[in-house]
Amino acid sequence: MSSHNSYLELTWTDEVTGIKGYVVIDTLSRGVAGGGLRMRDGVTLDEVRDLAQAMTLKEAVVYSPGDRYIPLGGAKGGIDCDPYDPRSREVLGRFGRAMKPLIEALFATGEDFGVRQDVMDEVFAEEGIRSSAESALALVDDGADAAYERLKVAFSRSVDGIGLGELVGGYGVAETALAALEFRGCDIRSSTAVIQGFGSMGGATARYLAAAGVRVVGISDREGFVYNPRGLDVEQLLATRDVFGVIDRSALGADDEISAGDDWIGTEADVLVPAAMSYVITSDNVDRVRASVICEAANVATLPEAEAELRERGVTIVPDFVANVGTNAWWWWVAFADIEPNAESSFDKIRGVLRPLTRELLERARRDGISSRAAATLISEEKRALVAEHYPTSVKSAAVAR
Ligand SMILES: NC(=O)c1ccc[n+]([C@@H]2O[C@H](COP(=O)([O-])OP(=O)(O)OC[C@H]3O[C@@H](n4cnc5c(N)ncnc54)[C@H](O)[C@@H]3O)[C@@H](O)[C@H]2O)c1
Repeated sequence: MSSHNSYLELTWTDEVTGIKGYVVIDTLSRGVAGGGLRMRDGVTLDEVRDLAQAMTLKEAVVYSPGDRYIPLGGAKGGIDCDPYDPRSREVLGRFGRAMKPLIEALFATGEDFGVRQDVMDEVFAEEGIRSSAESALALVDDGADAAYERLKVAFSRSVDGIGLGELVGGYGVAETALAALEFRGCDIRSSTAVIQGFGSMGGATARYLAAAGVRVVGISDREGFVYNPRGLDVEQLLATRDVFGVIDRSALGADDEISAGDDWIGTEADVLVPAAMSYVITSDNVDRVRASVICEAANVATLPEAEAELRERGVTIVPDFVANVGTNAWWWWVAFADIEPNAESSFDKIRGVLRPLTRELLERARRDGISSRAAATLISEEKRALVAEHYPTSVKSAAVAR
């Protein structure tokens, strides 16, 4: 994504299994960097670096000068292990033990692909880590303990059977998709969507698109693609998925169809939401895309050549570091007391920030004849420069738009 050097890159080898893990700190701000920890068979240092760079942009892009939360730097962690591997929990524990000094000093982390926050909390607690975000909590004005309590309250909330912490990210994705549809002049209630992935991000995106009146016609998980042109019963599917976001096939509706997992990309729908792995829209499969809006819930979902072709075809792309910023921003808005630790305040803030931000970046892209990613990168860099005026020594130059 960019040519600048990371602040820190670290490779860990599990002493028991030989499994590798990585942490990349792309930038620091006030001595701290934020970014999730993913677990995936095949994750590499290069992938973690790409994701850490996107985190630098993601941290700054939602900044508003009135907020108590000042953007952190960007970071990411990755463990090269299948989350279904029976050893995954103990590997996460040993990774946490090894990274404890980093987590407590400067790497504020949280759930990502293949890692659930409740599991991370449990495993890290066994290693004596109070919060995966400890280093950021130390920056909060009224103290780390108060911030920790606010996060605890926020994470204890649930909405219709799903924890608030698992919903805020996908709620944000849905809001950016709705803003993009409106920007294109589409009628929300006659629009359709297809989502790849049905975990934290995909599941909540599906819920809140459906709640807004969008017909969700297809959802894929790691077992395949579930399709119904008349619309899937999202709440019913949410109720039957397992902890890894896999739908129980025995609970499908009578006229729901099942096919191969990669069918999601070529299915007719207005909105396509990649919400699983990275690098899924490539020059090899971009011809199959029929959607007019792509909303990147997954980080680094679209490769640059594919993105250029989509732009040529007039497809609107909401880039990852805006579409999926909801979870990250919400953590900090709660911790720094910019919002109340409840669903109403959380959803109000996310909607209030992401709708206008999406409109702003799409308008800027159109006005200046640049890609939406370039427009969003400029917005993020301008905001980071604003932060740098107040904290002059803490900010390294941010990533460059690709
Ligand atoms: N969870 C967050 O807070 C968060 C925040 C920002 C970005 N993201 C990004 O969103 C993406 C999804 O993260 P998540 O936390 O929802 O993950 P998750 O582990 O909760 O869910 C992943 C989903 O992808 C599905 N999946 C796995 N392999 C697949 C395959 N080959 N084809 C289709 N589906 C497959 C799984 O079955 C599951 O439904 C990741 O790229 C992550 O980096 C997550």
